[in-house]
Amino acid sequence: MRISYLECTRCGEHLPGDRPQNICPKDGGVLFVRYDLASLKGKLRPEDLSGRVASMWRYADVLPELHAGEKPVTLGEGFTPMLASREYPSVFIKDEGLNPTGSFKARGMSAAVTMAKHYGLKKLAVPSAGNAGGALAAYAAAAGLEAHIFMPKDVPVANRMECDYYGAHVALVDGLISDCGRMVAERATKEGWFDVSTLKEPFRVEGKKTMGYEVGEQLGWKLPQGIIYPTGGGVGMIGMWKAFDEMEELGWIGSGRPKMITVQAAGCAPIVKAWEAGKSASEMWAGAATFAAGLRVPKAYGDYLILDILKKSHGTAVAATDEEILAAMRHWASAEGVFAAPEGAASLVAYQKLRSSGFFRAEDTVVLFSTGSAYKYLDMIETQEKKARPEPPAARTIGGIIGPF
Ligand SMILES: Cc1ncc(COP(=O)(O)O)c(C=O)c1O
Ligand SMILES: [Zn+2]
Repeated sequence: MRISYLECTRCGEHLPGDRPQNICPKDGGVLFVRYDLASLKGKLRPEDLSGRVASMWRYADVLPELHAGEKPVTLGEGFTPMLASREYPSVFIKDEGLNPTGSFKARGMSAAVTMAKHYGLKKLAVPSAGNAGGALAAYAAAAGLEAHIFMPKDVPVANRMECDYYGAHVALVDGLISDCGRMVAERATKEGWFDVSTLKEPFRVEGKKTMGYEVGEQLGWKLPQGIIYPTGGGVGMIGMWKAFDEMEELGWIGSGRPKMITVQAAGCAPIVKAWEAGKSASEMWAGAATFAAGLRVPKAYGDYLILDILKKSHGTAVAATDEEILAAMRHWASAEGVFAAPEGAASLVAYQKLRSSGFFRAEDTVVLFSTGSAYKYLDMIETQEKKARPEPPAARTIGGIIGPF
């Protein structure tokens, strides 16, 4: 629908939505897109969604309006399966690994690139832990725009390769995503790039909020007791929380909310640390290291928003070690048939910890977000396996083929 205005999440400043915007010029706050949702109340009902396109664009009514004849830049992202767990009767696995480019980042980039094209932008730049870069590269290719990707040189091979094939300009940086972000910021004006960094433009949140609408729709508009989300920059969590407020405004749900749970890697857990210390912002995490590449974010730009959501939702924050994550990947694959990216498998570690601590009971409905596919991490997984099991497993013979594999 038509954008009413963009609103600063820090100071409440309103900015016009008819031109590209990054962050609040006054205080650097994250901008949220606001619509006149009250005007849709009673007119747009959940049942109106049935039969619509099986992508996140089924929620086009609550996404920015385009010019007549203009179409979203889509590769079929969203409306991913909500799988009932075979191991835990009240758990669901939201399989975001089935998105184009193999992760939930597709949703944010579909929306951001659609709007970049709408505004007539030509060159987009992003710092990325890996998957956001791949997604931007794909959507920019589909839209005929230029993509400039800055990512750590040790990202999974798949991320480097996909960006190259999609025709993006790639800079491999000897550092972390925070260093990449600095480079984009320094060069953007001079090069004429529009910065689509996490939370530094308002539409990646809009794309990712569709996960919140899907949780509602796929669970019959009865929100679960808990949602566990692997948190790096936090856009997934922030987007879903925004969606729940919108769904309430539309009259689709009541005031109840799921407990929102952040899971991070123990080797880079700034939000967990801040949450445990009762702080409203995080500190830069020194020496960030984890094979869950998407969680290697030493300081999230929207940390104040994430911590606020954890508090308001009576949620919590949990850390998972790389060893625990690797074991959870193998467990999920063999118990559920889901070969999840390390970030997503961390959700299972968090769920198991929260069940043991009594935070969740067996009957609580909990959605675990599997944010990406393990197929994008094969090199990292192999390295991690070698670290975890320096001695190769005993040779196995299956039908004449000799392992270990
Ligand atoms: C597979 C995967 N899961 C989770 C995350 C973290 O996402 P966010 O930055 O939205 O918190 C990322 C980020 O790169 C990712 O690639
Ligand atoms: Zn502001």
